[in-house]
Amino acid sequence: MTSDTSDTPTTPDEPGHGISRKTLLRAAVAAGAAVPLLATGSIALARDTARSSAGRTLPPTPFCDDGDDPTPDQMEGPYFKPNSPLRTNLVTPGTAGTRLTVTGYVFGRNCVPLSGVLLDFWQADNAGAYDMAGYAFRGHQFTDATGAFTLRTIVPGLYPGRTRHIHVKAQAPGEPVLTTQLYFPGEPRNSTDALFDPALLMNVRDAGGGREGSFDFVLNVDGDEGPTDPPTDPPTDPPGGTWTAGRSYAAGDRVTYGGGAYRCLQAHTSMTGWEPPNVPALWRAGT
Ligand SMILES: [Fe+2]
Repeated sequence: MTSDTSDTPTTPDEPGHGISRKTLLRAAVAAGAAVPLLATGSIALARDTARSSAGRTLPPTPFCDDGDDPTPDQMEGPYFKPNSPLRTNLVTPGTAGTRLTVTGYVFGRNCVPLSGVLLDFWQADNAGAYDMAGYAFRGHQFTDATGAFTLRTIVPGLYPGRTRHIHVKAQAPGEPVLTTQLYFPGEPRNSTDALFDPALLMNVRDAGGGREGSFDFVLNVDGDEGPTDPPTDPPTDPPGGTWTAGRSYAAGDRVTYGGGAYRCLQAHTSMTGWEPPNVPALWRAGT
């Protein structure tokens, strides 16, 4: 219903023209207002419907019926690195910082959960620094058969010019990449960071000495076919020639790049920077 674009971020104080119920709820949380809570103690998210309907194709939820928009995109920023490790836990024994577990679901526009969605997270460490030499606080994973994900990390530190945030790229099989950022409610800098968007607020609570956050992505994909199959591994697909950017590849496709052979692990549209050696989530070396 709305026509939000990434270069015109909304602010917490902006009137909600056509704004969705979920966005309003999150804006209220950001402002510290009391909002209606479910019995679970959390604000109502699409995930709650998913939990109650596990294993079945979901009917449209109120959050979709009332025009809930796909998760908005945000700029990538200067700190993304390809080739992140496949892992859901970014915490190591010596990691400083408040433990944070982020859970959620990835849905298509019709609120059907999407499995096999690539989620590539990166964030600052406790001191607000990004690891550009290695892969600390970087990791990719895939949503499970129910469309769910879990990220174990720490609350990212602040750095100049920005409010607290986590970066993420999300890509359903064969669909374009959504690059965006997740935000924390109650952060003083939310009101001064021009990139901040209340539609990207997580629901965050204290838990066991750490924090628990939740966020449901809504990707701008059809999702009519229900949960997607996990990446397949057909051994007989024909070779795909030399890898090129801007081409659609299917799971099992074989290409060559830089003198090496690679097999596609899940359908996607290739793009510069995601060459096969750089994206182990999408390409496996060898045949
Ligand atoms: Fe950042």
